[in-house]
Amino acid sequence: MTTFVLAEVVPLVARGTGIVPDDVRNRAIRIMQDLLSQLREAGDPAVEPPYDDLVEVVEGIKSSVSKASPNVLVSWTLFDEPDEYECVHPFDVAVFSVAIALAMGEKARIQDIGLGALLHDVGMALVPVAPEASYTEGEGLSPDKAKQMRTHPELGVKVLRQHPRISAFTKAIVAQHHERMDGSGYPRGLRGSDIHPFSRIVACADAYSSMLVRSRFQRHMTPGEVVDYMMSAAGFEFDKDVVRAMLGCVSPFPEGAFVRLSTGELAAVERLSRGMVTRPVVRLVKQEADGVWVETSTEMDLARPEHQTTLITAIE
Ligand SMILES: [Fe+2]
Ligand SMILES: [Fe+2]
Repeated sequence: MTTFVLAEVVPLVARGTGIVPDDVRNRAIRIMQDLLSQLREAGDPAVEPPYDDLVEVVEGIKSSVSKASPNVLVSWTLFDEPDEYECVHPFDVAVFSVAIALAMGEKARIQDIGLGALLHDVGMALVPVAPEASYTEGEGLSPDKAKQMRTHPELGVKVLRQHPRISAFTKAIVAQHHERMDGSGYPRGLRGSDIHPFSRIVACADAYSSMLVRSRFQRHMTPGEVVDYMMSAAGFEFDKDVVRAMLGCVSPFPEGAFVRLSTGELAAVERLSRGMVTRPVVRLVKQEADGVWVETSTEMDLARPEHQTTLITAIE
């Protein structure tokens, strides 16, 4: 993967900036880091999640998403080290889930949904498989590791079970985030309306987040193909109303991300276009003789007809 000197490349946008302030994101990541390491150290579920801190993070996400909505899209957080995944991914899933819930008019239970999204994979800390294995190894996970990994929703519920301030909605999200509408999910193979509506939101946000990360690290799909997959799975694996709401407000491209175009050129994502999640405005970047990457004056709005044939093939 190419390394960029970020400050020198794109002075206009910081890599991975989003509408949620950095202090909220950093706090969420720190809380998850502490919680997961405490759980790993203890080796059992009797570690209390820091309820008040998590609620404040959800409030921070909710207020920035609702202020920006309905004109701004959210996207995911770029990171470079595989072991950052387990702390960054829950934050992204929480941002996606809150954005989807607000877009679907679900205002009353945002706190339960956000908490469920932040804690959805908490059981992974009690599974003896590296959490990033789910995307670094993907389909290549050994059957034994895959079986162990599949116990994490139930282990997550055990972590939350002892804490009465965590609602039944939040627990349902943790228990059901790998269930699929067509019954193909786990652990119980629930179907359709047997899966709680909030779990369907987080299931969709979770799948989208992890597929986007895999598309960057494994390159098995382009970001556009991930969007296509989510659309094709709508009504089968995922609730179609949730997919529709999600693709209206969650872009596969973080602002400031470097992307490879089908022309072979490299560009930085400048702005996201609502309603055209796979067609952001990008600015071409080029490498100077001294090796430093700089912006060029060429801005391309990929939503415009003249750029119709230019695709984004990868996030660098
Ligand atoms: Fe999970
Ligand atoms: Fe997850």
